[in-house]
Parts: sequence; structure tokens; C-alpha cells
Amino acid sequence: MEITIKKADKLKKHPEDSTLGFGTFFTDHMFNMDYNPEKGWHNPRIEPYGPIEMDPSTMVLHYAQAIFEGLKAYKTDSGEIQLFRPEDNLKRFNKSGHMLCIPDFDEEFILEALFKLINIEKDWIPGAPGTSLYIRPTIIAMDPYIGLRPSHTYRFFIILSPVGAYYAEGFDPVKMWVTTDYVRAIRGGVGQAKTAGNYAASLYATDLANKDGYTQVMWLDGVDLEYVEEVGAMNIFFLIGDELITPQLNRSILSGITRDSVIKLARSWGSKVSERKVSIHEIYEAHEKGTLKEVFGSGTAAVISPVGMIKFKGKEITIGDGNVGPFAAKLYTELTNIQYGKADDPFDWIMVLR
Ligand code: PLP
Ligand code: COI
Repeated sequence: MEITIKKADKLKKHPEDSTLGFGTFFTDHMFNMDYNPEKGWHNPRIEPYGPIEMDPSTMVLHYAQAIFEGLKAYKTDSGEIQLFRPEDNLKRFNKSGHMLCIPDFDEEFILEALFKLINIEKDWIPGAPGTSLYIRPTIIAMDPYIGLRPSHTYRFFIILSPVGAYYAEGFDPVKMWVTTDYVRAIRGGVGQAKTAGNYAASLYATDLANKDGYTQVMWLDGVDLEYVEEVGAMNIFFLIGDELITPQLNRSILSGITRDSVIKLARSWGSKVSERKVSIHEIYEAHEKGTLKEVFGSGTAAVISPVGMIKFKGKEITIGDGNVGPFAAKLYTELTNIQYGKADDPFDWIMVLR
């Protein structure tokens, strides 16, 4: 398939790196492609960033048949652009699609389209430390129909956003709120898919957490309301004694690419890493005994986010001295050094923009 390119007549002013935050600025162009049963995926095009016109009955608006991804492009000191594990994101994107009855796309073709788009938008990639170009591929159901069934038509789009830190706290520790009143996802549901509804389901409890002075909800499993799952936008790790623990992939949490990278990095240092069930009681007991050394989250947007405080059933605990721990700090440095081309890439995670 040939990707057609239509350039924007008027280009936007780029934001200052210091004002970026997360998710508010978008570049001049986007990628679009459509699907219908007769033609399959067709009409791939790069065109000016702009609204998607849709009928009020469009299925995605009613039943959230939508999937998305999140990955980043980084600028190195020598001005090269590199992507971190993009093939893994595209593989996961198709996997999410299966769970939402969304037709497969050709991952190699989309990678090529993404490279084309980023090449056009290269100047948008910020260079200040900790900044990058966030890439948001999305697929939405486009049938104008309000009966409940999978859509027959879809729109695939990719938008790009120059970003800084995801949390207002930056690399300072965030505060986690644990509840047994609400769950984000449940075994057998679509928790492991990167799909819109999972995020909608997380909003109410997160709002309660925010009102209580907490940054995020640390979700418990939906069956026993006891085992830690993940956080709204990241996976979670606990350093108890010398064991680094992260909840096992149980089909209700997202199989994070940063999570996998943390596991591989920590194992390469000789650390003991366990993917297993970890109950909120085990965490509180470890805190009591003084063996809970660190807690941190991992994600594309969140990178490595240290957790300074947890609140569960009214009891607040401070992790370590409430500051960034040495394990999280080392992971942050090693991971970002690979992402920004400051260190070797022993795991073959980097793709340089060609
Ligand atoms: N869990 C959820 C719910 C997420 O939205 C994300 C972000 O993508 C993650 C975990 C971390 O996944 P990744 O490391 O692939 O970005
Ligand atoms: C990401 O880290 O890429 C995500 O998708 C999280 C999102 C909620 C900002």
C-alpha cells in the first residue's frame, strides 16, 4: 500500500520544552487509515492533524470499541531519533484488537508509516532532559449504528505529542490509594487489553483518591480484593528484602513493555525478580517488619515513578524515608540512558529512525 502525504499549509508554533507536561500539545500531521470488510485496511495517509468527523451514532462513542498504544521517540545527544521497542507495542496493539473484535493490521507496514510520520515531524521532538515525543496509535469503531455488535468499519490513526513528565511530581515520589470498594478490571474481562473502557472504569475511584490527596489508585484484584494488580497508567514493583516483586500477568493487568524491561534489567544485575501474586497484607507486613524497601511504578508515560506513600483502609505508610530509593533511581538512570542513546543497548530494544 502506498502512503499518500498531504502537508499542512500552516504550521503550529512549537511549545517551550519547559512547558510540556503530558498530553496537551499535538504536532502538525497525523496518520490515518480506514477499514471496511470489502477493502480491508486501505487509504493510508499522512495529513494535517485535525478533527475526525463522525455521526453521533458512531459505535465507538456508545460502546467504547477502541484500542490504543503508547510509545515514545527520543532524541539523542547527537541528534539521532530512536524508538524504544516499537515492535512490541504494535504486537500488543493487535493483541488488544483481538479482544475487542478489531481486525488485525500489518505491523511492519504500520512501523513504516510511523517512521514516515515521525520523519515529517522530527522538529517537534524536544531535546531537554526527560522530554520525548509520545506516540499514540489508536483504532476506533466507525459504523453509524447503535445495535450492539462489533463494528464493520474502523479508523486507525496515529497522533504525536511532545511531552515531559507524566506526573506533576516529576521524579518525586507519588502517593497511592488502595481501595476494596472499586475495581478496575477482573479476570475474564478486558483488563489486559489497552482499551478505552478500562481507563473510563478507573476514573471515579481515581477522583476519590485525588480528593483524599493521593495521586493514583493502586488497584487490587477483582476476585479476592486482596492482590495488587497495577496502577492507572503503570505496572507496579515492590522491593521486599532483596526480592523485587511485580504482580504476575493474570489476564486482568496490562503486560507493560516497561515492566518487561525492568525485569530484564534487574535480572541482568543479578537481582532476584519474582512475577507472582502479592497481597496488600504482605506489603503492610513487610513495612511493619522493616523489609519493604522500595515501591515504584513503570510505564511509557510514567517511566519509573517512585511511590512514597500508600494508604489502605485508612492506614497510611511511608515507603523508606519517603524519598526516591536507590533501586528505582538506578533503574531510571539505566533505562533512560538506553532510551536516550547514552548507554549501550544490550537487549536490542532500540530502533533508530531511518
Ligand atoms: N498499565 C496500564 C493500565 C497502562 O496504561 C500502562 C501504560 O501504557 C502500563 C501499565 C505500562 O505499560 P507500558 O510499560 O507498556 O507503557
Ligand atoms: C502510556 O504510558 O503510554 C499510557 O498509555 C498511559 C496513559 C494513561 C497515559
